[in-house]
Amino acid sequence: MSGLRVRPAAAAALAVAAALLALMMAPGPAAAAWKLTKKGTVVSYDRRSVMVDGRRELFFSGSIHYPRSPPDMWPDLLAKAKEGGLNVVESYVFWNIHEPEKGVYDFEGRYDMVKFFKLIQEHDMYAVVRIGPFVQAEWNHGGLPYWLREVPDIVFRTNNEPFKQHMEKFVKLIVNKLKDANLFASQGGPIVLAQIENEYQHLEAAFKEEGTKYINWAARMALSTNTGVPWIMCKQTKAPGEVIPTCNGRNCGDTWPGPINKTQPLLWTENWTAQYRVFGDPPSQRSAEDIAFAVARFFSVGGTMTNYYMYHGGTNFGRTAAAFVMPKYYDEAPLDEFGLYKEPKWGHLRDLHQALKLCKKALLWGKASTQPLGKQFEARVFEIPEQNVCVAFLSNHNTKDDATLTFRGQPYFVARHSISILADCKTVVFSTQHVNSQHNQRTFHFADQTTKNNVWEMFDEEKIPKYKQAKIRRRNAGELYNLTKDKTDYLWYTSSFKLEADDMPLRRDIRPVLEVNSHGHSSVAFVNKAFIGCGHGTKMNKAFILQKPMDLKQGVNHVAVLATTMGMMDSGAYLEHREAGIDRVQIQGLNAGTLDLTNNGWGHIVGLVGEQKEIYTEKGMGSVTWKPAVNDKPLTWYKRHFDMPSGDDPLVLDLTPMGKGMMFVNGQGIGRYWISYKHALGRPSQQLYHVPRSFLREKDNVLVIFEEEGGRPDAIMILTVKRDNICTFISEKNPAHIRSWQRKDSQITAKGGGDLKPRATLSCPPKKVIQQVVFASYGNPEGICGNYTVGSCHTPRAKEVAEKACLGQRTCTLPVSADAYGGDLNCPGTTATLAVQAKCSKRTLRASWSSWLMNWPETSMAGNR
Ligand SMILES: *[C@@H]1O[C@H](CO)[C@@H](O)[C@H](O)[C@H]1NC(C)=O
Ligand SMILES: *[C@@H]1O[C@H](CO)[C@@H](O)[C@H](O)[C@H]1NC(C)=O
Ligand SMILES: *[C@@H]1O[C@H](CO)[C@@H](O)[C@H](O)[C@H]1NC(C)=O
Ligand SMILES: *[C@@H]1O[C@H](CO)[C@@H](O)[C@H](O)[C@H]1NC(C)=O
Repeated sequence: MSGLRVRPAAAAALAVAAALLALMMAPGPAAAAWKLTKKGTVVSYDRRSVMVDGRRELFFSGSIHYPRSPPDMWPDLLAKAKEGGLNVVESYVFWNIHEPEKGVYDFEGRYDMVKFFKLIQEHDMYAVVRIGPFVQAEWNHGGLPYWLREVPDIVFRTNNEPFKQHMEKFVKLIVNKLKDANLFASQGGPIVLAQIENEYQHLEAAFKEEGTKYINWAARMALSTNTGVPWIMCKQTKAPGEVIPTCNGRNCGDTWPGPINKTQPLLWTENWTAQYRVFGDPPSQRSAEDIAFAVARFFSVGGTMTNYYMYHGGTNFGRTAAAFVMPKYYDEAPLDEFGLYKEPKWGHLRDLHQALKLCKKALLWGKASTQPLGKQFEARVFEIPEQNVCVAFLSNHNTKDDATLTFRGQPYFVARHSISILADCKTVVFSTQHVNSQHNQRTFHFADQTTKNNVWEMFDEEKIPKYKQAKIRRRNAGELYNLTKDKTDYLWYTSSFKLEADDMPLRRDIRPVLEVNSHGHSSVAFVNKAFIGCGHGTKMNKAFILQKPMDLKQGVNHVAVLATTMGMMDSGAYLEHREAGIDRVQIQGLNAGTLDLTNNGWGHIVGLVGEQKEIYTEKGMGSVTWKPAVNDKPLTWYKRHFDMPSGDDPLVLDLTPMGKGMMFVNGQGIGRYWISYKHALGRPSQQLYHVPRSFLREKDNVLVIFEEEGGRPDAIMILTVKRDNICTFISEKNPAHIRSWQRKDSQITAKGGGDLKPRATLSCPPKKVIQQVVFASYGNPEGICGNYTVGSCHTPRAKEVAEKACLGQRTCTLPVSADAYGGDLNCPGTTATLAVQAKCSKRTLRASWSSWLMNWPETSMAGNR
């Protein structure tokens, strides 16, 4: 609430009283928003933090979007998020999946929003609901349903009555659904904050006063829903009145001074854990160290809530991705696309959360001060001197050089571009640059059940249509979305024209050229049923020109172009006017020059024959005749059957031998694939596609693929995914080498007591134990997890010691000191480092020969993709 200042003592009681008082004084509809229900909690805030029932809190939040993972993965994802130190999970709400047709609603399965928020509560975490309902999110149309485009006179996201009417109806529907399930904190539920609109600031600039009117209306409308929790707007410097503006970005600690309104806290709604990827992008990474630096920085300047965008990205199934966005979403997040721990990112952030929690009292109630320690160095301190409570963040902003900083008379080594957290202003409990947590490696494996019976059948989409067969006819080519209505990616355009003998090119060796201009996103062209070629735009330049030579004949010729969208755009003003499909068409190189077909009369056919018959479903499959598969044919449906691999490792399709298209398993859309589009480094952006186990049954699953350009289905592989290779790589000189600390009467001590010697911990995924120590060296080993090599120095007993401590254990701890591994290193000038790689597997009755043999046929694929 406004202006609330709470002292550490008696915080709770005072804050509730103050919140109620403020509530009584607050004017207008907002007052009702703060009504305290019987079992509900009051969420309030001031500059320092958000408070729950008057208790200040640090919020470590992560984005997990419910429709991007099947419900059977939710409990595991939430448990791992909690284990990673999160106390908040945040999700958008996606209008276009919940209301695919006006007035027709869907909240089932992956779209069961209420179930997801209830599960968050069952995991004893808070939640943030970002209703939008424009969400962007690299989601088809930014979450807005297609049918909204057909509402007369509509302009999206500005002061437009039709848009506001529909937006209000949907926001209220969602709020009521959440209220009916008692999900707001005010009702005893987990939701502590709700978001309206999304990154509106730059649109406000585009729409000027109409934009300002709209965003003020949106704020009032949101407040009037009486959720009892505060509303936020991200990337909206001038959020109206009581709505709290929050920061999205990579480095909110340095780029954002916080809300202008000094009674509101610094909240970070999107801390990007990587960069989302589109087809055509090379791989991207954001290191664990860099993320930890940014988060530590944010808390050091007074931030009290961060949100990892994404903590788990998941998969854009079916046709849910925005234009050019790949199915795999933020695979680089702390939990990867399959929900497996991505180490060391997951573990390093867990350690950071633990360190910050240790300093909670100082951070939330201490007096903040800043002490410059040199040109690019500073100390940020929070202190309650009378209680001996203190935390210091020592930061080195120099990205090239390490430094030794003197703070309160003591020297501290602070690596380049890093922050050290001193939990009592003395003891370094965390360094953003020194990773203590383990590493791991992702590997892909064959499974018997999917390698055998690799038999494919096909259905030829072949019926290249002619103008005469098309019922929708216009003078020129129609806009794609207007015709497909977002029910399919595909639209055929056809036109026929007659050539006389003297139209034909004079010289035989000159072939005429077909030129098709497109708004986007890709197309395949045929002339007289012959495949001419494909073309496509890019995420940055969606429009493109397809230009291919062809053969024409005297008499009637037929042009057919299959235009494809890669999803609807998800950002910017006037989203309702974005176009796709073809536009101008010409034939060049005829005797008389160029023939312009733009106004020649065009026929349109929406969707594919296979889509109309739903041949990707078991029901529809029988309505066509399948033949033995032939490779390298454009516009072909392929199918095969397979049994589910045993175990519970996730599954992927390796589609490397294919071109472009979409895939289904047991009738469910897995997503669009695009192998033929290579990024700057010459490789496809995504070769492996997630197939959730919950889409499968034990026996006889059906995989159906529609290939647009031509591919070799018999070379497709169905693999399992593991992160069972775990590693540690810790140097003796790591200044923050203890992972677990505790605070007792303002004293910071290592958990479990004892010495402060560095230790390394290895830990297998749930239900697995260390079955083999693959590599161990104490000395100066090199390499990355999965491929360590011994350096010039090496103690003799490293492997033996590691085996003794770790084999058969889920977790083991190893000392990081020479004497534990058989004596002196005797290598002057090297920093002694422990490197261990171990292999986890399901616990068997001893690591017997039979289990070895069972594991043997699994060939490890190209490693760490
Ligand atoms: C500042 O924030 C408080 C709390 O959100 C709100 O009640 C107040 O109206 C805001 N002041 C202005 C000038 O917007
Ligand atoms: C969080 O912020 C830090 C600092 O900006 C940045 O380095 C890090 O990448 C961000 N993480 C995410 C998930 O945005
Ligand atoms: C799409 O259809 C709407 C009417 O439903 C029309 O107003 C609009 O001009 C069409 N857009 C294009 C590009 O054809
Ligand atoms: C393993 O590392 C060595 C050098 O450290 C390198 O030459 C080799 O290519 C790596 N192997 C793999 C499979 O990455």
